[in-house]
Amino acid sequence: MVLTRIVYHSKLVIPPDFRGYEEEFVEKIRSVSVINNRKREVSGVLLHNVNTDELIQVLEGEDDVLDDLMEIIGKDVRHRGIRIMVRKEVDGREYSNWGMLRGNKDSWKLVKLHLPASADPNVVGDFEEAFALSNK
Ligand SMILES: Cc1cc2nc3c(=O)[nH]c(=O)nc-3n(C[C@H](O)[C@H](O)[C@H](O)COP(=O)(O)O)c2cc1C
Repeated sequence: MVLTRIVYHSKLVIPPDFRGYEEEFVEKIRSVSVINNRKREVSGVLLHNVNTDELIQVLEGEDDVLDDLMEIIGKDVRHRGIRIMVRKEVDGREYSNWGMLRGNKDSWKLVKLHLPASADPNVVGDFEEAFALSNK
């Protein structure tokens, strides 16, 4: 098994009836992901920047499984502008207990460690600011 980690960045597309309920919208995505990912032996975290509605998702799992999942996620109209920040083979998982962890201050710190030096400083800065203010 080739264990792979992907980190990507995208932006939520909120339908009008969910404006003001962005966190619930993300939670709906996450709750389906938890169930599906456990079946696929995929783990990770989904971070939502409440200020900008940007997303960063970390996915860990078997290389081919992640290819299939990224194809599904890539077609999902609930976000746009997917940019892969990291894709690499890894020795172990960071999120083995989580089909899809809900992002918070602590998980942002961990995600930051996995970002490459080439990561867009604006995106990193936006998340830093959002989670510095977050008390979740
Ligand atoms: C930002 C974002 C992240 C997502 N992450 C996952 C994921 O990790 N796992 C997953 O199964 N679906 C994820 N989805 C949802 C998929 O695009 C798709 O709707 C879902 O897998 C379909 O599940 P179902 O076949 O059980 O209805 C994500 C969607 C979005 C917009």
